Amino acid sequence: MYFDTLYINGQSYVGLYVSRQQEILTLQAFYEENFIGVVVCKLEDHRGLKRGYIAMLAVKDAYRGMGVATKLVQKVIKVMIEKKADEVALETEVSNTAAMALYENLGFMRSKRLHSYYLNAGDAVRFLLPLTSRDNIYT
Ligand SMILES: CC(C)(COP(=O)(O)OP(=O)(O)OC[C@H]1O[C@@H](n2cnc3c(N)ncnc32)[C@H](O)[C@@H]1OP(=O)(O)O)[C@@H](O)C(=O)NCCC(=O)NCCS
Repeated sequence: MYFDTLYINGQSYVGLYVSRQQEILTLQAFYEENFIGVVVCKLEDHRGLKRGYIAMLAVKDAYRGMGVATKLVQKVIKVMIEKKADEVALETEVSNTAAMALYENLGFMRSKRLHSYYLNAGDAVRFLLPLTSRDNIYT
């Protein structure tokens, strides 16, 4: 478990609380002690690869568009590299333009379209970020 701090837009103070239990990583972002965002990532075996799987990412409405999610996901990627993960994966709904742009900005690649993946019958896209292959853009 450790505590880290981040500065957003040069002024706003954001603290990240990191807990690691059973290969589940939860990063919480705070602004002046208010909880404003979270990412949850688990490390799992996937066909012989170590895969970091982002199960949840959310930022409170009032704090969106400030780069909080970007910083949370960048931190997850850093920890997954430390954990020697081969890749990071996640799914997001095709209609979620904010999430789609965010992950593409961070170098994630679309690997598969999943039809009627969600309860509302919406399609999803699986994103992959290779960490150990020559496609890795982070090391
Ligand atoms: C998706 C979500 C996590 C983004 O959080 P955020 O802190 O606002 O994201 P950031 O400020 O780091 O934005 C990063 C990039 O995402 C994209 N983005 C963010 N909000 C966007 C919007 N409303 N429309 C289009 N693109 C958007 C942009 O490309 C942005 O980069 P830019 O500012 O350089 O243009 C947030 O909107 C959210 O919590 N949504 C509800 C939950 C959700 O959909 N989670 C994702 C499921 S996988």
